[in-house]
Amino acid sequence: MASLTVRQLDDRLKKQLRLRAAKHGRSVEDEVRNILRSAAADTEEFATLSPPAEHQERHTNQTHDAARLRVLLIIGGGIAAYKSLDLIRRLKERGAVVRAIMTAAAQEFVTPLSAGALTGGKVFTDLFDTESEFDVGHIRLARETDVIVVAPATADLMAKMAGGHADDLASTVLLATDKKILLAPAMNPRMWENVATRRNLAQLTADGVAIVGPNAGEMAERNEAGAGRMAEPLEIVAAIELLRGKTHALAGKRVIVTSGPTYEPIDPVRYIANRSSGKQGHAIAAAAAAAGAEVVLISGPVDVPDPIGTKVTKVETARDMLRAVEAAQPADVAIFTAAVADWRMAEPSSQKIKKSGKGAPELALVENPDILATVAHDKSLRPKLVIGFAAETEKVIENAKAKLAKKGCDWIIANDVSPASGVMGGDRNTIHIVTQRGVESLPPQSKDEVADAIITRIAAELGGAKR
Ligand code: CTP
Repeated sequence: MASLTVRQLDDRLKKQLRLRAAKHGRSVEDEVRNILRSAAADTEEFATLSPPAEHQERHTNQTHDAARLRVLLIIGGGIAAYKSLDLIRRLKERGAVVRAIMTAAAQEFVTPLSAGALTGGKVFTDLFDTESEFDVGHIRLARETDVIVVAPATADLMAKMAGGHADDLASTVLLATDKKILLAPAMNPRMWENVATRRNLAQLTADGVAIVGPNAGEMAERNEAGAGRMAEPLEIVAAIELLRGKTHALAGKRVIVTSGPTYEPIDPVRYIANRSSGKQGHAIAAAAAAAGAEVVLISGPVDVPDPIGTKVTKVETARDMLRAVEAAQPADVAIFTAAVADWRMAEPSSQKIKKSGKGAPELALVENPDILATVAHDKSLRPKLVIGFAAETEKVIENAKAKLAKKGCDWIIANDVSPASGVMGGDRNTIHIVTQRGVESLPPQSKDEVADAIITRIAAELGGAKR
């Protein structure tokens, strides 16, 4: 029996139920469920029946709620509101308790029903709704959370916040809270660039409000491009974790990460490159920053946004990357995830190479410096822990072991990048951590999870623990 409707409750009982629910911080429905559960447990014939799995899970969740991150998500009105549904999913996957408020405009894009199905609770929409005010109330919404996330944060919501307005539930809660606030702005690029929005943004930043994004790219409106796209759900999750100071496992450590491909010019318009997206390297940099490290990310040309809390140096060629890595020393850890081009043109042409009519030109190539091997073998540069990646399409572990010896690093993180694996450009990765001590193979995971797993192991290694 999934639901039970109870009719003819008198007003006094209803009032008592509401008060009791409010006292316990539950919805009335949850309160009734709780009363029934304890009544059932007290009754012998009920006690032999175990509650359905769904209820067991809810119950367990309630008992652990104190330890779980509580997020109040305010969904503003914009086309990006659909991404907020994915954000709820991503937060729940990480064990967070999510409550949602939707503005009137947000409900033009997604329904409270969809958001509620994902949060697993009531979605709050109205400041003057007596039932929800009685049940929870805007002050409790504002206080019973660890962080408030506004996604998408529209120009209007930002203006209201900067001006201290409180004319609907969202703005009232934002004014009434004493918790950390994170905004994920999303709007048309011209609105984002508008002086009024710039002014509001400066005010909000000065007020201590954290901002993630917006990213540059194509907008939903045709022929519109520029900064204004809402940050991706996983970027918002990373920003929340950073805001919360997720762990201090790498506090006081300096970490250098290389990421993305390198571009080696052939002539002013052509270059040698590869399919690396930078997703894994950037995720590692983000995870290191979330663990409290000071992170220098040296990145080749990529489309992924700069991770929050990292210092990013953008380079094009392998030689530029090596210079940037050397300039970023000293460090405690260096993680080389970049897919550095092995070769460059011996002499790139200063003019565009033309078809000569005598067949294809000969492209004379020379080998690029090996950044990882240079750093690993240089005693004056070498960080305590040097980690390389091995992108392999066959004999993954065997080749990784050979690379560990050849490059002189401490760990090689091997991954299968054959086309069938979907790793290059994709969101998942399967890695094997190869060290002098042996091989640890991790199950297929998202690149964020892989990044977390690597950072956890680095922290253990620096802390003296042996894997
Ligand atoms: N690497 C580097 N500089 C280079 C080439 C590679 O720093 N010029 C680093 C990569 O960042 C990675 C590791 O070396 O951490 C292994 O990269 P990979 O391309 O797999 O190895 P290669 O040495 O290029 O070997 P091969 O292409 O022959 O497999």
